[in-house]
Amino acid sequence: MSIRTLDDLLAEGVSGRRVLVRADLNVPLDKQSGDITDDGRIRAVLPTLSALTGAGAKVVVCSHLGRPKGAPDPQFSLRPVAGRLGELLGAPVHFATDTVGESARSTVDALADGEVALLENLRFNKGETSKDDAERGAFADQLAAFGDAYVDDAFGAVHRRHASVHDVPARLPHVAGRLVLREVEVLSKLAGEPERPYVVVLGGSKVSDKLAVIEALLPTVDRLLIGGGMCFTFLKAQGHEVGSSLLEEEMVETCRNLLERSEGKIMLPVDVVAADAFAPDAAHDTVPADGIPSKRVGLDIGPETVAGFAAALKGARTIFWNGPMGVFEMPAFAHGTRGIAETIAKTDAFTVVGGGDSAAAVRALGLDESSFGHISTGGGASLEYLEGKTLPGIAALEN
Ligand code: 3PG
Ligand code: MG
Repeated sequence: MSIRTLDDLLAEGVSGRRVLVRADLNVPLDKQSGDITDDGRIRAVLPTLSALTGAGAKVVVCSHLGRPKGAPDPQFSLRPVAGRLGELLGAPVHFATDTVGESARSTVDALADGEVALLENLRFNKGETSKDDAERGAFADQLAAFGDAYVDDAFGAVHRRHASVHDVPARLPHVAGRLVLREVEVLSKLAGEPERPYVVVLGGSKVSDKLAVIEALLPTVDRLLIGGGMCFTFLKAQGHEVGSSLLEEEMVETCRNLLERSEGKIMLPVDVVAADAFAPDAAHDTVPADGIPSKRVGLDIGPETVAGFAAALKGARTIFWNGPMGVFEMPAFAHGTRGIAETIAKTDAFTVVGGGDSAAAVRALGLDESSFGHISTGGGASLEYLEGKTLPGIAALEN
């Protein structure tokens, strides 16, 4: 792999040069207050930013937040992120109220050496996510005009063929930032020759998002533990009724097929916590996975499942975990995720937590981040990496 790195750029000298940094500052916001509920992704990019400011660069940071539809949408503004980033850097961050317009131009022009600017949400512009090469290219031209060099530190977005990820590096000298390097280093270990037993835990809500990775991982893993909302489609494929639990009916057949070919590697819940509504205070109890009452909704894996999964995890040498086991945001349905997270934290295995939600769960549950080998900032990106797909953002750095 022939990727130039931040150290290469620093060795050339960046003092007085404008460096455009693509970061993934797509942090979760509280729906009511708009407050940042987990700043992990902001903290993850600090080493790259501090190295650049310390070397006297004029640092221009850009990112997406949420999925606005190509036009400004105040609920997805990066302004609160600029505030938090400034606190963490211990220096003010100059915020541009547009991405490539008048505000961005004057903000970038006014930067002194060692200062940081943050541009408004990339996805307020149609060109960022456009499928049309020319439209994306035109936007990439405007962005590239703000930098003399480009650093990609947005690991969470490297699987997107977007202007700031894929087209800007074709227009500027480009390097991988510290976060992207570390992520690729760790994940390439898992994709290469992981120490065995290698156990993967998958959760989260959508089975359709994870089918490709399950397919790709099955030959490689020794055990695949499935919890979270996606387990119900698998339980249905085993012939069980799942009440009003999350179900992707059109995926049942595919899941049945995967189970048949899995040589017993796939482990599913044997009990679930079933509630009478999707609500924090809903009445609930633990029921066998093959006995979910028809009006009930499964919101977590049960204690017997946690024990079974824990037993499978104990002897592992390598563990990858992506996706919560239940609705961990509601304390009544957080036990499964907590149980699995605590088990993983205690093993001697090399452990990797992948994905925004699982990483947020680790922090929200108050677990010690340092008891995990690596907490990836990328959900979709880490899964696609493990699937062996070509990631547009990484490929662009290789050229
Ligand atoms: C993420 O949250 O997974 C990344 O920031 C990418 O966001 P996206 O899925 O909206 O492209
Ligand atoms: Mg995502």
